[in-house]
Amino acid sequence: MKFPARLTVLMSSVLLSGCLRDPSVLFASAGPHAKETATLFWFFLAITGVIFVLVLGVLFVSLWRRREEGLVEPFHPLPQTEKNLKTIVGSAVGITIVILTALLGLSYAVDQKLIGFDRDPQMEIEITGHQWWWEIRYLSDTPSDIFTTANEQHIPVGTKVHLVLKSADVIHSVWIPNLSGKRDIIPGHDEDMVIRADRKGVFHGRCAEFCGVQHAFMELTVYADSKSSFDAWAKAQRLPAPEPLTAEETRGRDVFTKDACALCHVIRGTDATGYSSNAPDLTHLKSRKTIAAGAAPNTKTYLGKWIIDPYSLKPGAHMPPIPLAAEDYRALRAYLETLK
Ligand code: CUA
Repeated sequence: MKFPARLTVLMSSVLLSGCLRDPSVLFASAGPHAKETATLFWFFLAITGVIFVLVLGVLFVSLWRRREEGLVEPFHPLPQTEKNLKTIVGSAVGITIVILTALLGLSYAVDQKLIGFDRDPQMEIEITGHQWWWEIRYLSDTPSDIFTTANEQHIPVGTKVHLVLKSADVIHSVWIPNLSGKRDIIPGHDEDMVIRADRKGVFHGRCAEFCGVQHAFMELTVYADSKSSFDAWAKAQRLPAPEPLTAEETRGRDVFTKDACALCHVIRGTDATGYSSNAPDLTHLKSRKTIAAGAAPNTKTYLGKWIIDPYSLKPGAHMPPIPLAAEDYRALRAYLETLK
């Protein structure tokens, strides 16, 4: 990416972060996993903080009470002092063991509590990590209710959601700090995570395991909406892509389905049924806020740049540059804007 483009993305993310109600940290917890973990963290910090202050206190007192000047003889404690020293060291070791065991027990208790919480989820979403984006598939017992989107995950507030985590290529890691801790995903081995958002909000998650050059642009944003907004969103996502209305949009759809785009991308309701699962489903592309997993805002300008020169936004991305005649390019962009 050229410097001005980088600066734009940086500045827009800084400005956007100003709109965020929730900073992307564990302490702004919005769900039980993050909340329990944050409480445990504060407890650990308090105990270890007290010990730290005590140790430093003893160190400074010892430095303050220096031995008399000119005393070069080695220290030979009196029998009574030696006995006191043994008691002091013995007690210190005892207290250390008690504290460590208590902290271990506490971690175990919190872990058990959260394992108990994870039972009986009400919803299931499959999230597959790809280099460098997330495939998000809403599962259901009713096949017609299943749909796929990318990078932006919507969930209803107060619902226990089971995330089935998969990797299509290398090791990735899912981390949504406001909702839960990290979970690494090893290719060929499914992982699980249960999340519940207890309030509405936009919670920014990301890949937390270095997975190649564009690891930094692998955002996974969670939109926690009210049940009714979520249902409306899901209903719209299940629909096929809207039919183009103008001649230019129709031409754009033809460019999409007959040119290179359809080799990888799916647009439900068109001939672009996709031959590879290594590219996002674009049926409702314009319902998403960003493109390329947070690499750029989802505007007509950036989308155009992404088509003809993806490496200017995300060097090394697996999306190849698509050379198009000027008219086809205009038509394609017009068509993509209809994918609401
Ligand atoms: Cu995927 Cu880092």
